[in-house]
Amino acid sequence: MKKFFSIVLMSSLAMGMYTAPALAAQEGPISKQQQLKMINVAHRGASGHAPENTMAAFQKGVDMKADYIEIDVQMSKDGELVIMHDTTVDRTTNGTGAVKDLTLEEMKQLDAGSWFSEKFAGEKIPTFEEVLDEFRGKTGILIELKSPERYPGIEEKVAKALIERNMHKPNNKKMVIQSFHHESIETSKELLPLLPHGVLLGGGWAGVTDEQLADFAAYADYFNPTISIVTPELIDRVHAVGMKMYPYTSRSQEQAYELFSLNVDGIITDYPEHVYDHPGKNQ
Ligand code: G3P
Ligand code: CA
Repeated sequence: MKKFFSIVLMSSLAMGMYTAPALAAQEGPISKQQQLKMINVAHRGASGHAPENTMAAFQKGVDMKADYIEIDVQMSKDGELVIMHDTTVDRTTNGTGAVKDLTLEEMKQLDAGSWFSEKFAGEKIPTFEEVLDEFRGKTGILIELKSPERYPGIEEKVAKALIERNMHKPNNKKMVIQSFHHESIETSKELLPLLPHGVLLGGGWAGVTDEQLADFAAYADYFNPTISIVTPELIDRVHAVGMKMYPYTSRSQEQAYELFSLNVDGIITDYPEHVYDHPGKNQ
C-alpha cells in the first residue's frame, strides 16, 4: 500500500496534478514514525466496500487490518441496542420507519444489504451485543452513541453490555465511546470511568474556545471533528489539553493524505486502504 501510495503521490507531484491541501499540510514525504502511529478507523465498517453498519462491513474492516471499526448504536422500541446510522431504517434497508418505533424482531426481518449491492442481499441489522461478541479482541471498536437524546437510558444499556463482558477495564485500550451529544458522553464517562471517551464536532465548532477545549478534556480523551474544521492550529490546541484527534470522514486518497500530513492521530475513513497499512502498527 505504501509503495502504491508513494507512486501515486510522486506521479501526481511530478505531473503537477496534486493540489496542495488548503490546510498547510506537511510538505515532503511522510516519515516512518508517522506511518507507524497513524490509527486507521473503518467508518461504519469498511463502508466503501460493503453496506454500512453490517457484519459484512465490519468483517471487511478487520480483513483490511483497520485498527478500529466505527459503529453507530441506537435503541429499538423494545429496548434492544441496534447498529444503524440514520434514525429511520428507510435509506439502508428495504423497510420503513423510525428505529425507536420498530422492535428488534421487526428490524431483524429487514434486508440491510441489497440497497448497497445484490451481493450483500440478506445482510441483517446487527445488535450491539452481536458486534461485541464477534469482534472483541479482533479489532478496536469506536462506539458512537447516535442521537442518544431519542433513547433515554442508552448510556446505561451500553455500559451494562460492556461490563457483562468485562470490557470496561483500562486494559481495553481499543474501545472508545463517542457522540455528538456531549452530555451523553459525560454520563457515559461517569458509568465507565476507565474507558476512553470522545466528543464529535460538526462544522459549527470551527471557533471552539480554549475554555471549551478544557471543558471537553475534563471527561473526553478524543476530540473528533469533521474534516472541514481541521487546521494545524486546532490540532496543536487539542493536543495541548491532552486529547487526541481522529477526524471524520475521509473518502478519498487525497483527503487521507492531507490528514496524514497534518499529523492527526487517526483517520476515520470509508476506505481503510487509503490509510497506510504499515507492517509495524499492531506491534
Ligand atoms: O465517527 C465519526 C462519524 O461517524 C460521525 O459522523 O454521521 O457518519 O455518524 P456519522
Ligand atoms: Ca458514526
